[in-house]
Amino acid sequence: MKNLIIANWKMNPLKSTEAEKLLGSVAMGFRNIKRTEVVICPPFIYLSQLRKIKHGLPLGAQDCFWEEKGAFTGEVSPAMLKNIGCRYVIVGHSERRKYQRETGETINKKVKAVLIAGLKPILCIANLSQLEEGLNGVSEKVIIAYEPFFAIGTGIPCSVEKAKKMRKLIKARQVLYGGSVNPQNAVDYIAKAGFQGLLVGGVSLNARQFLQIISRVDEAKA
Ligand code: PGA
Repeated sequence: MKNLIIANWKMNPLKSTEAEKLLGSVAMGFRNIKRTEVVICPPFIYLSQLRKIKHGLPLGAQDCFWEEKGAFTGEVSPAMLKNIGCRYVIVGHSERRKYQRETGETINKKVKAVLIAGLKPILCIANLSQLEEGLNGVSEKVIIAYEPFFAIGTGIPCSVEKAKKMRKLIKARQVLYGGSVNPQNAVDYIAKAGFQGLLVGGVSLNARQFLQIISRVDEAKA
């Protein structure tokens, strides 16, 4: 199985031209990468446009709603994402739990809706109860991203020892680590802590550093 690296751009960048430029730079540097899968998750508003550029990288969304269509103002459905060529959806990110008050129940509905639409959910969790709630009644394989609160966007990464302990407790085939990942610590989470990939926030907005993460992880797999 290839390692999976997800770029979570969050609410960045401000202009669509910048989004195109960033994706173009990552795609250029990605050409020699063979053993690592990389997914770019831009804001919804850029997805259609980025889809039209030839870059060869799968796209993902940062969230979705759980219904397919109808009177749900402001929402975007997994079916819509599928129809514009998305392949992955991040679900239950800690920033959505915090600012949008998403609960285990709504996140669980989203995981199911993403699977029904034929997309791959990436379920973000900070602890085992969030894992249990998110996967309640789900029998399909789901990609999990372990992201401890204190490490998200803080520049304070989780220690490799703590991450390794958590990895052992998460019964899933593909588990990513997320939280202050940078080119210096990226390989350790995979080679030492036993994760199958990374969810990268802040550093994914810097093409040079993000490509460093990708190439180091790719070389480590050789
Ligand atoms: P960070 O974000 O890499 O900026 O800590 C990770 C995430 O929120 O997924």
